[in-house]
Amino acid sequence: MAKFITFEGCEGVGKSTQLKLLEEYLKETGQEAVFTREPGGTPLAEKLREIILHDEMSAECEADLFAAARCEHIDNFILPALGSGKTVICDRFIDSSIAYQGYARGLGRKRVEEINAYALNVCMPDAVVFIDMNPLESWRRQKGKIIENDRLEAENDGFHLAVYKGFKELARTEKRFISVVPDEDKTATARKIRQALRERGLIR
Ligand code: TYD
Repeated sequence: MAKFITFEGCEGVGKSTQLKLLEEYLKETGQEAVFTREPGGTPLAEKLREIILHDEMSAECEADLFAAARCEHIDNFILPALGSGKTVICDRFIDSSIAYQGYARGLGRKRVEEINAYALNVCMPDAVVFIDMNPLESWRRQKGKIIENDRLEAENDGFHLAVYKGFKELARTEKRFISVVPDEDKTATARKIRQALRERGLIR
């Protein structure tokens, strides 16, 4: 059975690197999977991504647009891929909306869940790999190497700490969450992630 796995975490914690390492591993071991991202993943959702990440807007509008891009992504990419038997691995999904718009922007988890009723009803991940690292710690380690590419990345420390708190709360309450504390050695972190996914029967 095709599985739906998402990756979550604060900015600069090595999520993209870990996605790349998992993709390489799955390819080498002949396991079919498609990789995608949010916001984005289809031509229309990528157009919405440009607007969401660069134009100023209210918190409510931001949450609505992330959810709209998600509906498009679900209908035109995720569900068709799962339907054809492919495992789907997505860089961020609804849990980013709960952490960023719900906790950090202050809309609240309940409101964000209402806005995302479609995803909640038809397309929830089998597992969420949460790279558990405080964003201020990751910035310190990278000594300011992170370049701010968009509006959300450019938010202040308080915002990013609130995002982290939101993820920690989700990790505490949601069974879909697998928390992985990253190691300094990225290949050791990749091994931890593979092990956790194997234990849940999500990859071989
Ligand atoms: P991206 O460049 O993909 O960030 P990263 O490399 O950290 O994953 O930009 C996505 C940004 O959008 C990121 O700051 C997280 C934010 N985001 C939300 O605020 N809500 C959401 O629902 C999603 C999917 C992303």
